[in-house]
Amino acid sequence: MERRAIVIGATSGIGRGLAELLAMKGYVVGVTGRRTELLESLRVSNPTAFIAERMDIVRVEEARIVFNRLVEKMGGVDLVIVNSGTGTRNEELDWTIDKQIIEVNILGCTAIANAAMHVFLKQGHGHLVGISSIAALRGSRFIPTYPASKAYLSTYLDGLRHKVKYEKLPIAITDIKPGFVDTAMAQGDHVFWSAPVSKAAEQIYAAIRKKKKTAYITKRWRLIAWAQKYLPDFIYYRI
Ligand SMILES: NC(=O)c1ccc[n+]([C@@H]2O[C@H](COP(=O)([O-])OP(=O)(O)OC[C@H]3O[C@@H](n4cnc5c(N)ncnc54)[C@H](OP(=O)(O)O)[C@@H]3O)[C@@H](O)[C@H]2O)c1
Repeated sequence: MERRAIVIGATSGIGRGLAELLAMKGYVVGVTGRRTELLESLRVSNPTAFIAERMDIVRVEEARIVFNRLVEKMGGVDLVIVNSGTGTRNEELDWTIDKQIIEVNILGCTAIANAAMHVFLKQGHGHLVGISSIAALRGSRFIPTYPASKAYLSTYLDGLRHKVKYEKLPIAITDIKPGFVDTAMAQGDHVFWSAPVSKAAEQIYAAIRKKKKTAYITKRWRLIAWAQKYLPDFIYYRI
């Protein structure tokens, strides 16, 4: 059976790693992002596997049109990975940074996840994967908006899962929560236990194949998740 996937935000980092891995596993992969030269380099690396479309998810109406056009070109889609995301430290509470995080991580990701759900409902099957973050579990003084945006994405995915389970729809929903992965986004001296993109992509792919509800990437980050959730405030607020 032909397997068709779309990776939103496939130009670099985790998204690119996943797109390459999916192509290796025999998927036809629709790849999107804003940086056309990077999309093109991906496409020429394997022209039979990749179909590229420029997409800026912040331009929501246009992005949804591009998404539906890509699905049409591919003759349907079995797996959609909403991976695009942004976030830089923002101790100054710079509004421009806050706004960009909200636009990409909340508005843009919801616009595409919603479009994917409509495709899945119409075709009668599908698997939606969102890349949230371990950061979703607790607020952070370094970058208050980013964890909040990822908590939104996790809760939104849980809402979609509630809907498909309740209505017994043949649609799977997976929330991927990475810790640090070695990409342009994860820079700085606070970074530890950083995983290579290839390792993260392999573990995300395994979670997708198992249609997991949630997966921590890499697996050891489950420990940090536990600490994030249960560390008392009087300790957390001193870190
Ligand atoms: N690296 C980590 O440690 C880490 C940890 C937890 C979660 N995550 C999450 O993992 C995901 C991937 O991040 P990464 O670390 O791989 O960083 P990255 O290399 O910077 O990748 C970010 C991706 O998002 C896309 N993107 C950003 N703004 C976009 C927009 N307006 N429209 C469309 N695409 C846009 C980028 O494509 P263009 O710039 O070409 O548009 C790029 O492909 C993000 O959601 C991030 O929050 C990362």
